[in-house]
Amino acid sequence: MCGIVGVLGNHEVAPIILEALKRLEYRGYDSAGIATVRDGRLDRRRAVGKLANLSDLLVHEPLAGRAGIGHTRWATHGGPTVKNAHPHRVGPVAVVHNGIIENFRELHDELSAIGLTFDSETDTETVAALTAHHLTSGLSPREAAAKTLGRLQGAFALLFLFDGEPDLMIAARKGSPLAIGHGDGEMFVGSDAIALAPMTDRVTYLEEGDYAFVTRAGVEIFDAAGRRANRALTRIQIEATRIEKAGYKHFMAKEIAEQPVVVAEAISHYASLQDRRLTLPDGVDFTNVDRLVLVACGTASYACQVAKYWFEQFAGLPVDVDIASEFRYREPPLSPTSWAVFVSQSGETADTLAALRYAAEKVAKVVSVVNVASSSMARESDLVLPIHAGVEVGVASTKAFTCQLTVLALLALKAAEDKGRMTPDQIAAQLDALAALPGLMSHAERLGPRIAEIAASLAEAQDVLFLGRGPMFPIALEGALKLKEISYIHAEGYASGELKHGPIALIDAHVPVVVFAPHDGLFDKTISNMQEVMARQGRVLLVSDAKGVAEAGAGTWTTLTLPEVAPQFAPILHAVPAQLLAYHTAIAKGTDVDQPRNLAKSVTVE
Ligand code: F6R
Repeated sequence: MCGIVGVLGNHEVAPIILEALKRLEYRGYDSAGIATVRDGRLDRRRAVGKLANLSDLLVHEPLAGRAGIGHTRWATHGGPTVKNAHPHRVGPVAVVHNGIIENFRELHDELSAIGLTFDSETDTETVAALTAHHLTSGLSPREAAAKTLGRLQGAFALLFLFDGEPDLMIAARKGSPLAIGHGDGEMFVGSDAIALAPMTDRVTYLEEGDYAFVTRAGVEIFDAAGRRANRALTRIQIEATRIEKAGYKHFMAKEIAEQPVVVAEAISHYASLQDRRLTLPDGVDFTNVDRLVLVACGTASYACQVAKYWFEQFAGLPVDVDIASEFRYREPPLSPTSWAVFVSQSGETADTLAALRYAAEKVAKVVSVVNVASSSMARESDLVLPIHAGVEVGVASTKAFTCQLTVLALLALKAAEDKGRMTPDQIAAQLDALAALPGLMSHAERLGPRIAEIAASLAEAQDVLFLGRGPMFPIALEGALKLKEISYIHAEGYASGELKHGPIALIDAHVPVVVFAPHDGLFDKTISNMQEVMARQGRVLLVSDAKGVAEAGAGTWTTLTLPEVAPQFAPILHAVPAQLLAYHTAIAKGTDVDQPRNLAKSVTVE
């Protein structure tokens, strides 16, 4: 969370930094700020709320200078106020920070004891204060920053800028990613390469514990032990970093609509539909694997929950699914013959990354299923399976979810093949079923106007329940998560058979209940649970196919008819109406669809 940018440019940098921050706003939008060095002196502007507010401020109070650092904030320590906004400045140093300084209280107390006072409630200000203190005691900016970094505990990406140093930025990475961009006589630093894409396609990623002295002439990188380090310069694909709404009102709408294309793309990377066979990379061999652990957060964890059904049913492979934040501190025993699979859109989620590091060396293979192929998780895995969803900007994950599901389904089919649980003909038939999905998803997407009508009524609700059984249970969880995060309506997902063990007490005529029930082997059971809801005046929206709606639609509040789909892949199709229900409900409520309150897209704090 929080996006940071630095520029040592040949022109005025405030507009360049602002533009880069726009590309990082998905990381947080509680406040934003920029500091520059102008005529040798630090100056800064900060504003609460979205970047647009900082942009307005800069119109009235322009900020000159050819060296600068900027920040877009997701608040951790201290509320979203101007005083808590970054950059934090203490005397001759300004700092922007992503992450959490865990020992900031200790540093705060030490610095207070020697007479320093603080302006903000943030952990970051202690970093600026400590560095300023070292400068006052005669150290150079490089020495002062290095000494400060030696004292910091926690996870962070930091950028320092100094009075009297218009050709120096100091960058440091521990736990949170940081990329250095190389221009022609200009240098850039950003939380990710996407932020830097308009300026350069030549990027060096700092590694864990690295710090760097950046000048217009280049960069000197040091590892955690203070030794000079060589880090590779890579070229990023600018095309892959384009972020435009392409005529859609919101990124979320665009990303929902893109799903047929990106799911087809994901399939094409791991299967040949023409030859009707799997083409997963060498190294994906489950022959000697006896257990899988799937670990993720939020929406990605629901993809793992669906995948558990696939791995168990297709391949007979036992699967444990864990939420990353619980997994890492539970310190579960892991078998050396198991694989640990980490699923993440960003590849940077702090809890999932820490869980990955915990599993490394304990399992036979660490596998990551990520959207950002250059992410920390990808770099630290034995095997990386990119999901090829393209840049996802909307804070609520949509196309990444269905692409995660698609790649996990293909992985489960490979496990079935390796374990001798499916013949080549059976694999071919499964691939035919998977290949039908993009077309079926386009069909589902065309239900948008009908879903908008239903959403107008859903928007009046205080609480909404989502039900599903088997692999549709995680889709119920996902439907509820999507609705609460962007419409702020309280929603819960339940396994439909679990309702009678307590939650059914919530049902009355005011609680809409969304039931995902494709006409599969579990249909009758799910419908029995739906009838129990209707018997208590519950207002049911049944999402099924034509057969299901014909059999069970009577007496419901309303129905949504999806095209018929192979039951094992129904979760991928049903994700689309779940997303559209949330999207149109949020539109009806007038909430901020792409940047819902209190959230950020890349969760790089624990
Ligand atoms: C919800 C959502 C989040 C993410 C979660 C994990 O719409 O987007 O729940 O799924 O924060 O993020 P990644 O996949 O980047 O690890």
